[in-house]
Amino acid sequence: MKKFYITTPIYYVNAKPHIGHAYTQVICDCITRSHKMFGRDAFFLTGTDEHGEKIEEACLEAGFEKGREKDFVDAIVDKFKEAWQKLNIRYTYFIRTTDEIHEKEVQDFLNKMKEKGDIYAGEYDGWFCTPCETFWTDTQAEGGVCPDCNRKVDRIKEKNYFFKMSKYQKWLIDHINENPDFIMPGYRRNEVLGFLKEELNDLCISRPKERMAWGIELPFDKDYVVYVWFDALINYTSGIKAAKEGFDEVWPADFHIIAKDILRHHAVYWPIILKSMGMPLPKTVFAHGWWKMGEEKMSKSKGNIVDPVELSDKYGVDALRYFVIKAISLGLDGVFSEEALVTIYNSDLANDLGNLLNRTLTMVEKYFDGIVPEAPEGFGCDEQKNRSREIKKEICEIFLIINDRVFNKELLLKEALEEIMAVVNIANKYIEESAPWKYAKEENTDAIKIILLDLLEALRVTTIALYPFMPETSQKMWDQLGLGGKIEEEVSVEELLDASKADSSDWRRFPAGTKVAKGDPLFPRIQ
Ligand code: MSP
Repeated sequence: MKKFYITTPIYYVNAKPHIGHAYTQVICDCITRSHKMFGRDAFFLTGTDEHGEKIEEACLEAGFEKGREKDFVDAIVDKFKEAWQKLNIRYTYFIRTTDEIHEKEVQDFLNKMKEKGDIYAGEYDGWFCTPCETFWTDTQAEGGVCPDCNRKVDRIKEKNYFFKMSKYQKWLIDHINENPDFIMPGYRRNEVLGFLKEELNDLCISRPKERMAWGIELPFDKDYVVYVWFDALINYTSGIKAAKEGFDEVWPADFHIIAKDILRHHAVYWPIILKSMGMPLPKTVFAHGWWKMGEEKMSKSKGNIVDPVELSDKYGVDALRYFVIKAISLGLDGVFSEEALVTIYNSDLANDLGNLLNRTLTMVEKYFDGIVPEAPEGFGCDEQKNRSREIKKEICEIFLIINDRVFNKELLLKEALEEIMAVVNIANKYIEESAPWKYAKEENTDAIKIILLDLLEALRVTTIALYPFMPETSQKMWDQLGLGGKIEEEVSVEELLDASKADSSDWRRFPAGTKVAKGDPLFPRIQ
C-alpha cells in the first residue's frame, strides 16, 4: 500500500536553524505522528540544501577556503540534526544534497530532460539575487532590487543552459485549475495562477564553474554546475531512493510543506520538471505563513532570529511545539514574542492541562488510595447522571473531530488542538460544577466514582489526542495516569475510530484497578 509521504523544504546550511525552520518541522512531525497514530504508514523526509553561491559565500565568510565547502557544511548540518532531535522531530530520512545518491539523481534528471529536448544552451542576460538564489527580468528587478527581499541584484550575462518551462505553461494552468487541492491554501493557488498569467520565461539551470563551482556538475558540460534550486527540488525523489524505500510505495508526495516565499519554486518549477520527466505530480503543495519579528520576516540575513533550541531549554520542548501550532492558523503569518509564549504556557498548559491532571489524580489518591475504582451500578444522583451524559458525548467524539481537522487538506492543526483543549476545559468545569468534595461530605461514593471515572477517561483521550502535538508531555501524562508502556504502542487504531462507543454503556476505557502515579507538575507556572 502507498505510504503517506510528507516533506519539509531542505534548509540552507549557511547558519544554524531558527524558529521559522522549526515551525515547518513541528507541523510535519505532528501530521506524521497523527497518521501513524491512526494506523497509516508514513514517510517523512527532511534535509539540507548545501550547494550554491549563498552557501559558498557563508563558507568563505566563516574563514574556510574554496574547496573546503564540505567541511563547513558538515558542521552546520550537525546543528540542524541536533535541533531536530531536541524538538522531537521524528523524520524518516535526512537527505543532504551533497550525498552521492542525490548528485546522481540530479544528473539522471538532467540527462533525461536534455535527451527529451527540454534543456538547451543559450545566453543568459538578466538579474540575479544571490540571497534568494533567484533570477529576475528587467521588469521584475525594477530599480536593481530583488522583488522578494528588496536587496541589490547583480547583472549577469553569460552562456548557460535553459529549461523549456514555457512549453508547459498551459498544461500547468490546466492542472492547477483541475486539481483545486494542488496548491493550498486557496489564496495561494490564486497567487500562482496570477503569476502564470504572464508568459513564463525558460529557467536558467546552470552556472559556469569559472564563477561558482560549488554545485553538481552538468553531465553534458563539465564547465558548468547546476543551478541550486534545480538541484534542491530533486531531493524529494532522491530522498526516497537514499532511504532505500520502494519508489512507487512513496512517490508521489501527499504534502510538500513549505513557507510562502518558496511557493513559485514548488508550484511552478517543480511540477514542470516532473512533467518533463513523465512523473506523477505531488498531490498538495501547502504554503504556510511566516514568523515575523515586528513587521519583518524572521531570517538569518535580517539578523532577527530566535533560536528554537534555547527556547526549548528554557520552557520545555512541548511548550514550544504547542505555542507555534496554537498561535497561528496554518497559512497565516504570526508575530513572534516570548511574552505571548509565556502567556499561552501559563493559561493553557500550566492552568488548564496541568491542573486537570493534578486535581484528578489528587482526588483518586484521596478518595480511593490511588486505585481507579470499578464503575458503580448507578450515578449516585440524577444531577450527576445528567452531567456525566454531557461529558461523555464530548469525550467520545474527540477522535472523529481530530480526524476531520488534521486530515483535512486545509491542515487545521490549530483548530484540532483547540478541540482537544476544549475537552480539557469542559473537564475542569465539570470538576467545579459537580464538586466531588460535596459528595464526599454526604458519603455518596457512587457519585464520586462516576466523577473520577469520567475525568480519568477525559484525561486518557486527551493524552492520546495530544500525542502528535506534544509527544513528551503526552507520555508523561500517560505514566502519571498509570497506564503503562509507550503511549504510541498502546493505543489501537480500532479504538480511535470506534464512533459507536458513544452509544454503549461501558464507553469508558480507563481500566479499573489501575494504580495512578501522580508526579511533578507537568508545566510549573512561570512568574
Ligand atoms: N533551500 C531552500 C528550500 C529548498 S526546498 C527544495 C530554502 N531554504 S531556507 O533555509 O531558506 O528555508 C526555507 C524554509 O524555512 C521555508 O520554506 C520555511 O519552511 C522555513 N522558514 C524560514 N524562515 C521562516 C519564517 N520566518 N517563518 C516561517 N517559516 C520560515 O528556501
